[in-house]
Amino acid sequence: MRLKKLGIIGGTGFNGFESLPLKDESWQTTPYGETSATIDTLEYAGRSFYFLARHGRPHQIPPHKVNYRANVFAFKEMGVEAIIAINAVGAISKTLKTPQMVVPHQIIDLTHGREHTYSDGSGLVELQHVDFTFPYDQEIRQNIISCAQHLNHEVETNAVYACTQGPRLESAAEIDYLETIGAHIVGMTAMPEAALARELKLPYVNLCLVVNPAAGRSEKIIEMPDIKAAFEQGMVEVRATLQAFIKNYCEAD
Ligand code: HPA
Repeated sequence: MRLKKLGIIGGTGFNGFESLPLKDESWQTTPYGETSATIDTLEYAGRSFYFLARHGRPHQIPPHKVNYRANVFAFKEMGVEAIIAINAVGAISKTLKTPQMVVPHQIIDLTHGREHTYSDGSGLVELQHVDFTFPYDQEIRQNIISCAQHLNHEVETNAVYACTQGPRLESAAEIDYLETIGAHIVGMTAMPEAALARELKLPYVNLCLVVNPAAGRSEKIIEMPDIKAAFEQGMVEVRATLQAFIKNYCEAD
């Protein structure tokens, strides 16, 4: 696999690649509104790729207010061939460490009230009932996992992502419930992003970083300074994995 144009969506704690040269940045207006931030064209190892900060710059758009439709549509319009999306998550499974990367293989959507489809009757996109049996692109998943493993980074590959509405974190009882329905990690941003990408036939993968044990999964309550410390530590591995992916699987300019 060689991608000509990769799009990366950065989540909380991952607002860009400060050390990489910025070749271009542009606001994108779509029939669904504006993207969360400018879409940056960055370069690594002689390869260009696009980057978009999901929560805006500065980081201020909450998960339920992100214009997922505009973000994914803009990437499609720009000719992006695949999306790797970064997400901070809480660990439901006690075997997961903080911080640790997880590349989930399944999703459960528990969000509500978000603009979650292009099939909204507006006529802009044909009405479709897309297949979502396997939400993620298998080849890109395997490739990103092998990049992480080659770097000797620990990465969990068998995980179900439960997407909650937020912005509040969950109660301990909600986390117990999510475990009973098969979830291993919990976050607020994979949906409707993953489904919108599927509607536009864009291969999509979530690269998640565990930044806290989920509610009730440790003795402590969840506090922002602890989450921030986990980000700072864990994002080093996320960045290195993405850079390896770009080098190995994207075409040189
Ligand atoms: N729950 C939901 N979303 C999250 C969490 C969590 O514990 N941590 C980071 N994003």
